[in-house]
Amino acid sequence: MFETLKSDIKAVRERDPACRGLLDVLFNYPGFHAVLIYRASHELWEVRLYFFARFLSHLGRVLTGIEIHPGVRAGKGLFIDHGMGVVIGETTEIGDNVTLYQGVTLGGVSLKKEKRHPTLRNNVVVGAGAKILGPFEVGENSRIGANSVVVKEVPPNSTVVGIPGRIVVKEGKKVEDIDLNHQVMPDPVAKAFTCLMDHVQLLHKRLDQLSEKEDEDQVQFEDLRSRLSGIVPSPSGDASGGNKKQASPRRKSAK
Ligand SMILES: CC(C)(COP(=O)(O)OP(=O)(O)OC[C@H]1O[C@@H](n2cnc3c(N)ncnc32)[C@H](O)[C@@H]1OP(=O)(O)O)[C@@H](O)C(=O)NCCC(=O)NCCS
Repeated sequence: MFETLKSDIKAVRERDPACRGLLDVLFNYPGFHAVLIYRASHELWEVRLYFFARFLSHLGRVLTGIEIHPGVRAGKGLFIDHGMGVVIGETTEIGDNVTLYQGVTLGGVSLKKEKRHPTLRNNVVVGAGAKILGPFEVGENSRIGANSVVVKEVPPNSTVVGIPGRIVVKEGKKVEDIDLNHQVMPDPVAKAFTCLMDHVQLLHKRLDQLSEKEDEDQVQFEDLRSRLSGIVPSPSGDASGGNKKQASPRRKSAK
């Protein structure tokens, strides 16, 4: 117990650059006071003095604004900086040298009497306002960004940010950006419609080409006929062939 307290004091001195020394830690750090009270209430919890454990924990909350359930299992070197608004649920497990900032929630999402809070492995840092919700693990040396909401397991040596939390650094390497444009979903109906429009345009083009060709044929036909009528006169005696205005049967059917 004494060793654990020593490591809690050391954690404050090492991890807060604003700390001015032992007296500062003992008197001016609500996070340290909360951890101190938690350690005592946990002892009571372990010997099944549940009411007294809860009552002491409640006093700690009134004094510091930090709520740590006495059933929590926390390793040495726990540092809660500033602390106001921190809530740590009953079945949470915390490894060694973990740092939590103000407004952190280590909470549950189940109402059953089971393991429902997260497990934080050694050296995890949880940024201000972050919420870690559910009975999963946050691996060693991982960091949770301020105000993130983490709802699934975090591998060791990772950095998680955002809502819902996503891994941006894994094993020290930046994770490539993933497409988060969820609002730009593929629309199969629109896609089919576009295909149809393209096809109709293609048919129009082909039809234009055909009718241009037919016009050329028509001109050639008229030319031939006028030349022929110069050589062989038509039965009506009309040199033009007598039916210049009559459209060719082919053209009639095309239009
Ligand atoms: C998450 C954190 C640990 C990452 O620190 P880091 O390793 O230096 O990483 P970076 O600053 O390079 O950030 C990595 C990426 O995550 C983004 N990011 C960092 N913190 C973020 C956060 N809280 N929320 C959303 N995105 C965040 C960065 O913009 C960056 O994105 P980019 O690669 O697209 O530019 C840090 O930003 C953090 O939130 N620490 C908590 C500190 C805190 O709560 N202090 C309270 C003191 S009172």
